[in-house]
Amino acid sequence: MHPLHSLTLLGLLVSFLQAASEWPPGPGAVLVPQEPDDELTAMMAQIDPARIEAIITKLVSFGTRNTMSNQTDPLRGIGAARDWIASEMQSFAATSGGRMTVANSEVPSYVQAPTGSIIQKTVISNVVATLKGSTDPNRIYVVSGHYDSRVTDVTNFLSDSPGADDDGSGVAVAMELARVMANHTSVATMMFAAVAGEEQGLFGSAFMAATLKNASADVQGMLNNDIVGSSTGDDGTTDPFNIRMFAQGVPTTETLSQIDSRVDIGAENDSRIRQLGRFIVEVASNAVTQMNVQMVYRPDRFLRGGDHESFIANGYPAVRFTEPHENFAHQHQDVRVVNGVQFGDLTEFCDFEFNARVARVNGVALWSLAQAPGTPKGLTLDTSVLTNNSTLTWTNDPAAAGYEVVWRATEDAFWTHVVPVGKVTKTTILLSKDNAQFGVRAVGANGFKSPAAFPFTD
Ligand SMILES: *[C@@H]1O[C@H](CO)[C@@H](O)[C@H](O)[C@H]1NC(C)=O
Ligand SMILES: *[C@@H]1O[C@H](CO)[C@@H](O)[C@H](O)[C@H]1NC(C)=O
Ligand SMILES: *[C@@H]1O[C@H](CO)[C@@H](O)[C@H](O)[C@H]1NC(C)=O
Ligand SMILES: *[C@@H]1O[C@H](CO)[C@@H](O)[C@H](O)[C@H]1NC(C)=O
Ligand SMILES: *[C@@H]1O[C@H](CO)[C@@H](O)[C@H](O)[C@H]1NC(C)=O
Ligand SMILES: *[C@@H]1O[C@H](CO)[C@@H](O)[C@H](O)[C@H]1NC(C)=O
Ligand SMILES: [Zn+2]
Repeated sequence: MHPLHSLTLLGLLVSFLQAASEWPPGPGAVLVPQEPDDELTAMMAQIDPARIEAIITKLVSFGTRNTMSNQTDPLRGIGAARDWIASEMQSFAATSGGRMTVANSEVPSYVQAPTGSIIQKTVISNVVATLKGSTDPNRIYVVSGHYDSRVTDVTNFLSDSPGADDDGSGVAVAMELARVMANHTSVATMMFAAVAGEEQGLFGSAFMAATLKNASADVQGMLNNDIVGSSTGDDGTTDPFNIRMFAQGVPTTETLSQIDSRVDIGAENDSRIRQLGRFIVEVASNAVTQMNVQMVYRPDRFLRGGDHESFIANGYPAVRFTEPHENFAHQHQDVRVVNGVQFGDLTEFCDFEFNARVARVNGVALWSLAQAPGTPKGLTLDTSVLTNNSTLTWTNDPAAAGYEVVWRATEDAFWTHVVPVGKVTKTTILLSKDNAQFGVRAVGANGFKSPAAFPFTD
C-alpha cells in the first residue's frame, strides 16, 4: 500500500472513532468497524481493473445500447449487448458448482407498450446471475448497473451512444462481482444484475423489483451503481478515493399517517435505507477497498433518481453509488466536438482503477450482508413507562448466534456504541430513550453482523 493511503485510512479510522459525541454517557464499548475476513479480502484482490476496461470496451463496441435499438443484430444494438452479458454471466456460473444460475434460453423480459419516451413497442430484458444462498436462500441482496445507454435525445436509437461511464461502469461492477464470487458459498442469496430501460424511466429495474415482490422475496438490500467509472469532474477536480452513496431518509412509498408515526418516534433519520447506508459506510471504508464511502442524506426522488428507486417503491431498502465529481459533458450527450471540447460518454474518460475500487466497496458490502444473519425483525422500544432505562424487544432468528444493541447520540450520523446482549429477544439498556437512538443487530456464528434494525417498521 502507498504510504499516503495508509495515512488517509488511519485518519479515516481515527475520525470514525472520534465521531462519538461526548454526551450522553452510556453503556457499552465504542463501535469498531467490522473488517473483511480473509476469504473476502482474497476475493476483492481478484477484482481486476483490466477486466473492467475490457467489459466497458466491449459494451461500447455495440455502437448503441439505447433500449429501443436493434434486438436481433449480432453486432450492433442492445440485443447484442444483452446476449454478450448473458454469455459472460453463464461462463461465471459454470465455475459455481451449480450454485449460480442465469436464465439460459431467454433472460427475464417483458414487452413494454409505448409510453412516454418509449416511442415504440419494446422488449425490456434484464440479465441476472443468481448465486443461491446455502442456508438462507430466501433472503436476497442485489447489486446492479444498467446496460442501456443514451445520447442527447433519449428516443434516438440509431446514433452511436457509447455509455462507457453511464452505465458501462455499473454493469462492470455487477459482472466483476459475479465472476469473483461465483465459486464461493454464501449464506444468503446474491443477485448480480444488468438492467435495461433505465434512461426512459427505470423500466427494467421496476420489472425486476416487482417480480421479486410478487414472489414475496425478502430483499434486504439493493446496491445500484450508476456512473461509477470516472474520478475526474468537469472542473478538473480528481477524487479517486471517495465514492458517493445516496441513501434517502423517508421511503417514497410512505403514507402521511406512516410519516406521522415516524415523526412520533424520531425515525426521520433511521429508515431501513439509512441503516443499509450506515452498514455500508462501516464495512466498506477500509484498506481492502481503499475507499471512503460518503453517505449523502438526500431524498432523491427528483434528484439523483435511478434503479434503486424501483426497489424502494416495492418496499425494499436500496442505495445508489455515483462518482463524487461528475462531468456532464460526458453524460447523455451526442458524441461530438464543440470548440475543441469533446462531448460524449467515451471510454477515454474512464478511470478503471477507480471503477475497480467501487466494485470492491460493493463487493465488501454485498458479501458482508449475505454472510451475516438477516436484520432483526419486529423490534420495538417500550415507551409505556417513564424511566431512565430503555427496553427493546424483537423476534428470535434461529440463524443468529447473538445480538448487539447499538446506540448513538441523536445528532450523530453513525452508530457509535455497541452493547453485546447475547442470544436473547429482550433487553434493558441503562440509557434513557429520550437521549439516544437505539438499534439492534444480529451476530452470526461466523462473526458477520447484520445492519441494525430500528424500532420502527418501514
Ligand atoms: C436488426 O438487425 C437485423 C440484422 O442486421 C436486421 O435484419 C433487422 O431488420 C434489424 N431490425 C430492425 C428493427 O431494424
Ligand atoms: C475461485 O476461482 C479462482 C479463480 O480461478 C481461484 O483463484 C480461487 O481459488 C477459487 N476459489 C475457490 C473458493 O474455489
Ligand atoms: C405483479 O403482480 C401484479 C398484481 O397481480 C401484476 O399486476 C403485475 O403484473 C405483476 N408484476 C410482475 C412483474 O410480475
Ligand atoms: C433519571 O435520570 C435523571 C438525569 O440523569 C436523574 O436526575 C433522575 O434521578 C433519574 N431517575 C431515576 C429514577 O433514576
Ligand atoms: C433501571 O434504571 C435504574 C437506574 O435508573 C436501575 O437502578 C434499574 O436497575 C434499572 N432497571 C432495569 C430493569 O434494568
Ligand atoms: C440525519 O443525520 C445527519 C448526519 O448526522 C444530520 O446532519 C441530520 O441533521 C439528521 N437529520 C435528522 C432529521 O435527524
Ligand atoms: Zn445512468
